[in-house]
Amino acid sequence: MNKKLIKEVKKSFKKQFKTKPLIVFSPGRINLIGEHTDYNEGFVFPAAINKGIALAIGRSDAKVSNTYALNKEELYEFKVENIEPLKDGGWRNYVLGVVSELQKIDKHVGDFNSVFAGDIPGGAGMSSSAALENSFVFGLNTLFDLGLSKNEMILVSQKAEHNFAGVKCGIMDQYASMFGKKNSALLLDCRTIKSKAYKIDFKEYKLMLINTNVKHDLSESAYNDRRAVCEKISRLLHIDALRDASKEDLDQIKVDITKEEYQKALYVLNENNRVKQFAEAIIKDDIQMLGNLLYQSHDGLSRNYKVSCVELDFLVERAKQNPNVLGSRMMGGGFGGCTISLVKKEAYKSFKRDISKKFKEEFNKKCSVYSVKLSKGTQVVN
Ligand code: GLA
Repeated sequence: MNKKLIKEVKKSFKKQFKTKPLIVFSPGRINLIGEHTDYNEGFVFPAAINKGIALAIGRSDAKVSNTYALNKEELYEFKVENIEPLKDGGWRNYVLGVVSELQKIDKHVGDFNSVFAGDIPGGAGMSSSAALENSFVFGLNTLFDLGLSKNEMILVSQKAEHNFAGVKCGIMDQYASMFGKKNSALLLDCRTIKSKAYKIDFKEYKLMLINTNVKHDLSESAYNDRRAVCEKISRLLHIDALRDASKEDLDQIKVDITKEEYQKALYVLNENNRVKQFAEAIIKDDIQMLGNLLYQSHDGLSRNYKVSCVELDFLVERAKQNPNVLGSRMMGGGFGGCTISLVKKEAYKSFKRDISKKFKEEFNKKCSVYSVKLSKGTQVVN
C-alpha cells in the first residue's frame, strides 16, 4: 500500500477535524481471467493490488457528516438520514450508497467525518469504485461496531454500486478488494462466493498493465445491457444463471434468440471454462497455456461479447507480434481501461518503450504502463 497516501489523509483529517481518525486501506484489483462471468454465477480469478484508497474516518458530534475527497479537493457535507442518489454525484454517490445500503439492512450509522485519497487511475478497470465502497463500509463497520462479516460488507458495497452508481455489477471487484492475499490471486466461485488462493509466480514472466487512458461513454449502459442479455437467455433456458448452461442448451434455443445474443452467451460459457483451465495451468506450471488463454479471452471479449474498443484491440495485436509477450487481453468491464499482459522480465523495459511509442503514433495520445504487486485486502492500518 501507499504509505504516503495514508500519511496525507491522516494529516488532512487532523487538520480539518482536530481528532485522531481510524485509518483504512482498501485496494483495487486486477483480474487474471474470467471477464463478465461473475454476474453469471461463474468463476473469476482476481487479485487485490498495492494501489487503492486510503480513508481516514472518525465519529462526529455535529449533526452533519463530512467527506473530503483529497485528490479532487472537494468537501461534501450531508446528513445520514433520508439519503437519495445524487444526479451527477460522482464519488459522493459511493459514500451515500454505502450509508444507505447499511440502513436498509438495519445497520444505522451516526454522523462521521472522513477524508479519502487514492492512487488507482480512474476508469482504468482496476476497481477504484469497489475500493472506495469497501473502505467506507469497512471503516463504518469498525467505527460504529456494526458487527458485519466481510461477506456481508461486500454485499453492501455491491448494492451501493447497483443502486447509487447505476451499474449492475457482479461481486468480483468488491470480493477481490476485501479478501485479497499477498502474492496470490483468488479463484472465486461467484455462486458460493468462496475462493481458493493461488500463490502466483510467473517465473521469468511478469504482469504488465497498459492503460489506454480512455473510458468510452457507453460503458455503463453497455455493461447493464450485457447483463440483461445473459439474464434473458437464462430465463429462456429455465436456469438460474448461464453458469448452468451448456453449448447444447444454447443450440436448442438458437431460433428464439438473435445471432449476437447466441454469441454473447457462448462467450460466457467459454470464458468460464477458460478460468478453470487457467487454474489447472497454474498448478501444472504451464506458462505457455496461461498466455494462450489470455489471448483467447480477449478474442471472445472483442469479437463475441463486444466489450473491447480500438485502443484495447491495438494493444493486444501489438503484443501478439512480440515474441516476448506470452499473452494479453483487455481487463475489467471493457470499452477502455487496461490490458493485462504476461511479459518476459528481461524484455519488460523494451516492450514498454516500444508499445508506448506505437500507441502514441497510432492514437496521438499516451498510454500508461503499470506493474503491480498482489496484495492484502481491505484492512485497518495502525
Ligand atoms: C466490472 C464489474 C465486475 C465484472 C467486470 C467484468 O469490473 O464491476 O463485476 O463484471 O466488470 O468481468
